Amino acid sequence: MSKDKAFSYNPTPYRFVAKYRDGSWDEGGLTEDANIVLNESACVLQYAQNVFEGLKARRTADGRIVIFRPDMNIARMKESCRRMYMPAFPDDRFMEAIKDVVRANKEMIPEYGTGGALYIRPFMIGTDPVLGVKPATEFEFRIFVSPVGAYFDRMIKLRVCDYDRAAPNGTGKIKAGLNYAMSLFPIAEAHELGYDENLYLDAATRTYVEETGGANIFFITEDGKLVTPRSETILPSITRNSILKVAEMYGIPAEERRIAFSEVGGFKECGLCGTAAVISPVESIDDHGTVYTYFKGETFEGSKAMQLKKILTGIMEGDIPGPEGWVCEVE
Ligand code: PLP
Ligand code: COI
Repeated sequence: MSKDKAFSYNPTPYRFVAKYRDGSWDEGGLTEDANIVLNESACVLQYAQNVFEGLKARRTADGRIVIFRPDMNIARMKESCRRMYMPAFPDDRFMEAIKDVVRANKEMIPEYGTGGALYIRPFMIGTDPVLGVKPATEFEFRIFVSPVGAYFDRMIKLRVCDYDRAAPNGTGKIKAGLNYAMSLFPIAEAHELGYDENLYLDAATRTYVEETGGANIFFITEDGKLVTPRSETILPSITRNSILKVAEMYGIPAEERRIAFSEVGGFKECGLCGTAAVISPVESIDDHGTVYTYFKGETFEGSKAMQLKKILTGIMEGDIPGPEGWVCEVE
């Protein structure tokens, strides 16, 4: 077991598991078994009934263990469960289970100041066999953790993707595996062509900026304003929500609004934000050969995006006091 530098699956000794049967969740508990045995016709295998979350635990300079805004992930997973016709795991037990798994695997949390974190992955699947298309009635809820490093280790090159991510009134605003299944072909293709991620446009008109396959996007205008898309078909990123609040706290003008793709050439900086991505600078967006570049004539180090990143990670690591309730300590 290594405290890996990359963003990859590094199994740790313990995970949490609970099962739902006959209308209620069992007591659940920690297990060392990383494998799940399922019937061949389990709903998750045939009809992709699953939802998941992603959050991080970190070590502070004085050795405490803190988790960033877990209440937001718990609330978002409840919404995902509702849309996927799954029974939410009770909030208070969810919070305790997150802390239990982190505590049980605390030796695996990367040291303070390394940029690493313990990624926490709660998920739920429909487990009983179905053949006709209908939701499962039995479910498994699990939380595993994995020490991770940076998701992107360089400035990101995006390409405008010709595939759509999320339909109007579809599932784009929840965190369900199906939204990522559809992105596997486009991301493989993007990587083969030398890009790091896909930029998706709105499926209805293909004229507005949405997000990438695994993170929200934001821009900084020439006069220093933070701008990020408002859309009903993107994942409501907790990192983005936090950046908007940080901007407000530090007097940086910020706006969440529809962003026409025709505007992207006019912005000074561009970045991706998410739990895995944290805040990662975008070097360029390639729209079928027309390339828009960012951070021209300046380094990321001196940018507004970096200023936001420093404040946000400072709060996440316990160096800078954040708003009430953002940093949840695991005793
Ligand atoms: N958008 C997508 C599609 C994601 O997978 C993620 C990652 O969770 C995000 C945005 C960022 O969300 P958050 O900041 O809550 O991690
Ligand atoms: C996250 O940032 O938590 C994600 O889920 C993004 C990606 C790893 C799917």
